[in-house]
Amino acid sequence: MRIAMIGTGYVGLVSGVCFSDFGHEIVCVDKLTAKVETLRAGGVPIYEPGLDEMLRRNVEAGRLSFTTDLAEAVKGAQAVFIAVGTPTRRGDGHADLTYVYAAARELADVIDPGTVVVTKSTVPVGTNREVARVIAERLVETGRDCPFEVASNPEFLREGAAIEDFMRPDRVVCGVDSEVAEQVMRDIYRPLSLREAPVMITSLESAEIIKYAANAFLATKITFINEIADLCEKVGGDVKAVAKGIGMDGRIGSKFLHAGPGYGGSCFPKDTSALARIGQDHSVPMRIVETVIDVNDRRKRRMVDKVLDLLGGKANGKRIAVLGVTFKPETDDMRDSPSLTIVPALVGGGAKVVVTDPEGRREGEALLPGVTWAEDAYAAAVEADAVVLLTEWNQFRALDLKRMRGGMRGDAFVDLRNVYDPEDVTQAGFRYVSIGRSDAEPTAGAPVTELMPST
Ligand code: UGA
Repeated sequence: MRIAMIGTGYVGLVSGVCFSDFGHEIVCVDKLTAKVETLRAGGVPIYEPGLDEMLRRNVEAGRLSFTTDLAEAVKGAQAVFIAVGTPTRRGDGHADLTYVYAAARELADVIDPGTVVVTKSTVPVGTNREVARVIAERLVETGRDCPFEVASNPEFLREGAAIEDFMRPDRVVCGVDSEVAEQVMRDIYRPLSLREAPVMITSLESAEIIKYAANAFLATKITFINEIADLCEKVGGDVKAVAKGIGMDGRIGSKFLHAGPGYGGSCFPKDTSALARIGQDHSVPMRIVETVIDVNDRRKRRMVDKVLDLLGGKANGKRIAVLGVTFKPETDDMRDSPSLTIVPALVGGGAKVVVTDPEGRREGEALLPGVTWAEDAYAAAVEADAVVLLTEWNQFRALDLKRMRGGMRGDAFVDLRNVYDPEDVTQAGFRYVSIGRSDAEPTAGAPVTELMPST
């Protein structure tokens, strides 16, 4: 099937490349000439494991191409996907749909009759019907007779695991309003049926809500375990054991229960905020989601205190090595990363901050003024008073702790991802603080035996 993909951001590019790998003929279109040129030359503007190889393979096979020309891209296409950005609108938390509607309007002039216009961008309830209205309005304006269909096809892939998520999804959700659109969507995803991925057909509205509800639920799950971690720190307990203990209950599930410095990224912060606004607009307050947003924002700020507590309360004059600045490993994405709250606070407090990240430097340099960049963890830690592990890249999971400690002038290790075994770090000569593991804290309470009343 011939398919056009509008937008070569994360979702658009991964989807386009993966669809071409299914065997479909894909034309990706973007307004940014430089980006299209990079893609045409075989370059991939984002860091996503495996994407460059899959892109090259499908370009060579003649199934995947890139253009800035919308008319050329949609000519002969049975389905046109809109995968443009829907950032948070400045000031009010709503999703900004400018690019979605602009694309819809432009499409009205160029699509072939019978095309299914599929929205893949994350959009609030009602957007797909509005897309249909915008296209219909423009068709009336131009006097063009061009029947078309719409469909909603939200994406659930994670950055860093995008190809695996696309190729082996838990489910594919297609919101449709007609049998024709349903058939086209089923044909597009047929290759996945060999892998028994369920294709779920819903109304347009349900599909739109599923996307926001899924992200909000996952953000809630993370925030919940983060609060439980705080409790563990205060009353004694290990959040890893607690997460395991509750996660083994099939109704709860073990995924997304890793306590950390707060969720970030291009999706959870944006989508929770948009869902809260949708609720307010319809007088159905999303009180849980609103609280999650607030708790997560405060959490990122509180992580600074965790670092400072181990440094005697002051950042001034201290040298701090930060390992990892992207919002999670295997991506170069810095959007809403906890590092953007934590690092500037340390720099602002007078610390000399040395950061290292396998992929984050290109984006991070402009976002983190006043820091020094180091090649690796050991170089970052030279003469440091403290090491802060902020993103759990593989490179930081098996550090030679003694070697690192040997190059430092201080002995503080703040592990905001619970990567290390407290005993190993302590044995390497560190004072160690992690998340929700009271036993690991230097100020841990007295052993239980000492607390027993004497008889
Ligand atoms: C998220 C969803 O997981 C995808 O299903 C969805 O398609 C995507 O948003 C989107 O809407 O496009 P992503 O933002 O790439 O994917 O990253 P996640 O792996 O979900 O991580 C998000 C944040 O939560 C990260 O900051 C991560 O460190 C944090 N996290 C995740 C935790 O703190 N604990 C966990 O247990 C899991």
